[in-house]
Order: sequence, then C-alpha cells, then structure tokens
Amino acid sequence: MAPTALFIILLLVHISNSNTCDATNPAPKFPAVLVFGDSTVDTGNNNYLKTLFKGNHYPYGKDFPGQIPTGRFSNGKLVPDFLVSILNIKQTVPPFLDPSLSDNDLITGVCFVSGGSGYDDITAAGAGILAFSKQIELFKEYVVRVERILGDKEAKKLITSSLVVVSAGTNDFGFNFYDIPTRRLEFNISGYQDFLLNKLQIFIEELYELGCRKLAIAGLPPVGCLPIQVTVKFGKPKDGRCVDDENSDSQIYNQKLVKLLSKMQSLLPGSRIVYLDVYEPLIDMINNPHKFGFVVTKRGCCGNGFVEAGPLCNALTPVCADDSEYLFWDSIHPTEATYQYLSKYLEKNVLPKFAYRNQSRPSITLSGHPHRADDRY
Ligand SMILES: *[C@@H]1O[C@H](CO)[C@@H](O)[C@H](O)[C@H]1NC(C)=O
Ligand SMILES: *[C@@H]1O[C@H](CO)[C@@H](O)[C@H](O)[C@H]1NC(C)=O
Repeated sequence: MAPTALFIILLLVHISNSNTCDATNPAPKFPAVLVFGDSTVDTGNNNYLKTLFKGNHYPYGKDFPGQIPTGRFSNGKLVPDFLVSILNIKQTVPPFLDPSLSDNDLITGVCFVSGGSGYDDITAAGAGILAFSKQIELFKEYVVRVERILGDKEAKKLITSSLVVVSAGTNDFGFNFYDIPTRRLEFNISGYQDFLLNKLQIFIEELYELGCRKLAIAGLPPVGCLPIQVTVKFGKPKDGRCVDDENSDSQIYNQKLVKLLSKMQSLLPGSRIVYLDVYEPLIDMINNPHKFGFVVTKRGCCGNGFVEAGPLCNALTPVCADDSEYLFWDSIHPTEATYQYLSKYLEKNVLPKFAYRNQSRPSITLSGHPHRADDRY
C-alpha cells in the first residue's frame, strides 16, 4: 500500500473516532432502542394481554398526540419515546405485541415491557402480564424477525449497536415486600435486594448472550415518595411526608446496583453497561418543585391522587386542571412533564457515557507524526 493511502486511511479512522467522542452534541448514534421493564416504560403491550392492569382508557393518554389512550401509564409520552426522539430515530417506541408493526418499526426498536412486571417472577404471577422471563422470550422472537428482514449478519450488527434500556424493581419491592409481604417471610430487605440483583444479573447475561452490548439499567426511584406507598404506610396522606425507610432502601439498592453493573461490564467483553439514575433527578423535583414548574408533588393528578392507578383511574375519575403542575399522574406513575425532565437528565448524564473513545475501534495514533493529522482540520 502506498504511504499516502495508508495515511488517508489513518486520517479517516482518526476523524471518525473524534466524531464519536468529541463532537459538540455528545449523543452517540444508535440504530434502535430496545426496552425491557415495568409500567414506567410500557408503551402498550398490556393492551394485548388478559390483565386488568391497563392504561388504554381515558384519562390515560389525554396529552398524547391525538389524545389517544395507547396503554402508556401516563397522560402522554414516556422516557423511551423522548429517548428515540432525542436520538433522532423516531417519535415513539411501539409495543412488540402490536400485530401491525412494519419492518421499519422493528428495526428501529420496540418495547418488550409489561406494566406490573418485575425482576422477581412472582411479581407478575397470576396478573396476566409478562414476567421478565417472558420478555426475553419475546426478544428471541424479535431477533428471528429482524434476521428475516435484514439477514443474519446485519441483524447481528443491529442488535450489537442498539441501545437496550431496562427499568424495573419498584413493583418487586411494592408488591412482594412492603405492601404484601410475600417475600418478607423469606428475606430481610438486604437479602431481597441481593435476590433481585441476582435475577437482574442473569437477565443481563441473557441479553449479552443474545448479542446486546450497550445497556442502560435504571435504578430505583425514591419508592417511599410514590403516593401509593405513602397511602399504604400511613393509611392517609401525611402532609407531604415520604416513607423515609423505603427511600433509604432504594438508595442502598442503587449503590449495590452501581457496583454490580461495573463488575458485569468488566466480566462481559465489549459491553458498555451504564447505570441510569432516576433517584437523584426525581428527589430533586420532589425537594425543589418550583425549579421545574411543579406545584403538587405528593399526589397524582388522577382522582384524589393517593390510590388511583390502572382500572381505578378511569373515565369517571375527575382529573386535575393542569397536569403539567403535577409530578405524578396517578398514585404510581409520573406525568409526561416529569418524564420529559427525566429524559433531559438522561441525555445530559447518561447517554454521553456511551460515547467512549475506548469503544469499538482501536485508538490509532500516527507514530512518529502525532500532530500531522490534527494539522489537517
Ligand atoms: C439479613 O439476613 C441475612 C441472612 O439471610 C443476615 O446475614 C443479615 O445480617 C440480615 N440483615 C439484617 C439487617 O438483619
Ligand atoms: C477500555 O475498555 C476495556 C473494556 O471495557 C476496559 O477494561 C479498559 O479499562 C478501558 N480502557 C480505558 C483506557 O478506558
């Protein structure tokens, strides 16, 4: 190879490396976003299941484009929707169970999530929803469909470079430990945290086996500030108090999660596994509502805001006048306004962690002429 040709190749490698790392817009490029988790990220799979836990009726979706109740458990869009929009992929993430998905819908990313789900399979048991073990089965079906569309080689590339988002855990603690103490007969809180993190570890390994490499794993929100948790604990609204014990449990779980993710990234070659912090931005909104234009942060907009969610938040339930002033939409789920702030936080603090110099390409320097390439642009 002529020296000039080699030089140009090295220069191109150098420029493309710089573009992925140092560009003014830090958002890295992903061809697709794939989502696993619970109702905070369910864009409508529960519509296709025999379950009572659905958000496909008014007033859910009242601020969604076209005022459509899509099954999203909020008044509008969710974080995955804002995320694909930030990444310039599309406007919303469709549910995988939607029978009308186009090839393009599939190869730009879908959601395998089911509202009410958790890492512990007993969380979903008997509720007619998709446990995590079922979500991974759907993902396997997805891989087969994408292979049919793109061919094996391109499908593999797509999965490897897609952003995978996993968000769950709240239901496990709520359903099995705090509110209905099924698992409390077996575990203390620390033991149950470890049990769930072990399930998550196995889930991440399965995703890795199936080709996923870029993962963002959400921690817990301040669970003790969910209006439903305050109601269960105190029996009635407790003038703005959160359940402190549950919040400190959430923080301890999150610290353990951070450790686990960094361990897993070093165990799984070529992976990038990033912690997605939802606790800090949410507690900031709860403690400093005016900074975000919120007025009400301790109860939901739907009904009296302390118990209503799913079937209890329905067309007969009165809603607040202005949901953009509310942090919570119902007694469990944030409003679209909150999800939008969370998405901005994610854009600023989480996505840049995927744009790593050290990622897929080796860093090549022109030995002997370290400055020449830089001088050219
Ligand atoms: C929780 O249970 C484990 C054993 O199952 C025990 O080692 C640990 O000390 C317990 N922690 C607390 C805080 O009780
Ligand atoms: C590059 O990535 C590998 C694997 O993720 C990691 O072990 C290594 O420490 C990283 N190197 C630098 C300089 O960040």
